[in-house]
Amino acid sequence: MIVGESGCADAFSKYEALASALPASRQGLGSAPYRKHDGFWYPEHLMAPTLAMRDTFAARPTDVILATMPKSGTTWLKAIVYSVVHRGRHAPARERHPLLATSPHELVPFLHSLYENRRAAPPGPLLEGMPPPRLFAVHAPFTALPASVPGSGCRVVYLCRDPKDAFVSLHHFLGEIKPEGSEMTPFAEAFDLFCGGVSPFGPVWDHMAEYWKESVARPGEVMFLRYEHLNEDAVGTVRRLAEFLGCPFTDEEVASGVPEAVVALCSLERMRSVRANRDGVHGTGRWSFKNMAFFRKGEVGDWKAHMTPEMAQRLDGIVEEKLRGSGLSLAGN
Ligand code: PPS
Repeated sequence: MIVGESGCADAFSKYEALASALPASRQGLGSAPYRKHDGFWYPEHLMAPTLAMRDTFAARPTDVILATMPKSGTTWLKAIVYSVVHRGRHAPARERHPLLATSPHELVPFLHSLYENRRAAPPGPLLEGMPPPRLFAVHAPFTALPASVPGSGCRVVYLCRDPKDAFVSLHHFLGEIKPEGSEMTPFAEAFDLFCGGVSPFGPVWDHMAEYWKESVARPGEVMFLRYEHLNEDAVGTVRRLAEFLGCPFTDEEVASGVPEAVVALCSLERMRSVRANRDGVHGTGRWSFKNMAFFRKGEVGDWKAHMTPEMAQRLDGIVEEKLRGSGLSLAGN
């Protein structure tokens, strides 16, 4: 092993050792348990990369960070922000747009994923070589973001979804991607865990409340969006998003329907029809799966087909209670 490789392995081993010393959940919603760090539960394989990211990533003022709980519309937000920010180079109505050839997850990587499997090569040079604006996504809670993020002036966009729909989506997703031969936690048991705050990057209510608080304190730097509002008024939300990102649509763009073209390009139907999203593969090794798993129904209220009214009431009640006093309410959607 050459000296540089050994240094990287040592640096990453530190985070693996830290991660393996954290409390573990007895079970997870899917086939793997979680590790608890600063009040949040992390999928075990993402704990060390998240800690490495937190300690070493240097944010730039031009960076854009998309933050979500899993299954809250991350893929959709990635596509929208990519097409808004790059519309000068890639007109959204063009047939040769990058989003029609490449998965949104490749165009906008998860920041923590860049730190996975980094025993031999830390992502520093890769990150430094990325031209501005660098677009990343995270599932990490706000308090686990690199310390450089709040001070850098970079933009953070948080997308929040009704936890009932996010839970149903997560359950389907985990069933799709589970490694060969592993067992899924049954729906009712997984729901109990979710209601107890045990879910990837959960508790969901604390995750939302942290970003909400930050968006109220620093509205110019942190924007809080709802999946349901994006679904209801996609064009209006895309226009607000462009303003927030410092690249508002011009009058000419509005008159020629560019915001509508962004919405059409990023629609579930269009994204589904792209070969890279149908047949491409996400991740590596044990956690690799077909990109198609990111696209299911995209409905608001799909929970009604999977949960009893009592289950819905229970989760709504917990979320409402936990968010009380935060200024954020999901009631009425
Ligand atoms: S992940 O794994 O956290 O990145 O997944 P995420 O993308 O957050 O969530 C997947 C759910 O979002 C729906 N989806 C979309 N909805 C609307 N428009 C578009 N373009 C879109 N792309 C993905 C996807 O279908 C999942 O929701 P469910 O309810 O399972 O259909």
